Amino acid sequence: MFYPLVSEDELKEGLFEKKEVEGISLLVIFRHSKIYIIENKCGHFGMPLHKGHFEEDTIVCSYHGISFNLSDGEIANRPYENCASVNTFEVVSKEGFIGVEFSGTGK
Ligand code: FES
Repeated sequence: MFYPLVSEDELKEGLFEKKEVEGISLLVIFRHSKIYIIENKCGHFGMPLHKGHFEEDTIVCSYHGISFNLSDGEIANRPYENCASVNTFEVVSKEGFIGVEFSGTGK
């Protein structure tokens, strides 16, 4: 099922939107001319990533500083061992909207 998240007209560099789909919090990010959709949940203790900041093409969790690649959700640094990658979702463009075809499974 397609869930529209952002109108293509609203896309601008630096866009950082938090949206909820089927009870899962997602972040829509437009950075360095690329669109990313990632789960708003750190792979460490599950804290929300929207409170973090960007470094290059990663998002850095504000709690313990672990950074995740925006493109695939993999850990970009590893200061802690007990940390998983973050779910990322394929970006779908449909009828003027950017969104996800969502089945709740992530990548
Ligand atoms: S909860 Fe995100 S780095 Fe620990």
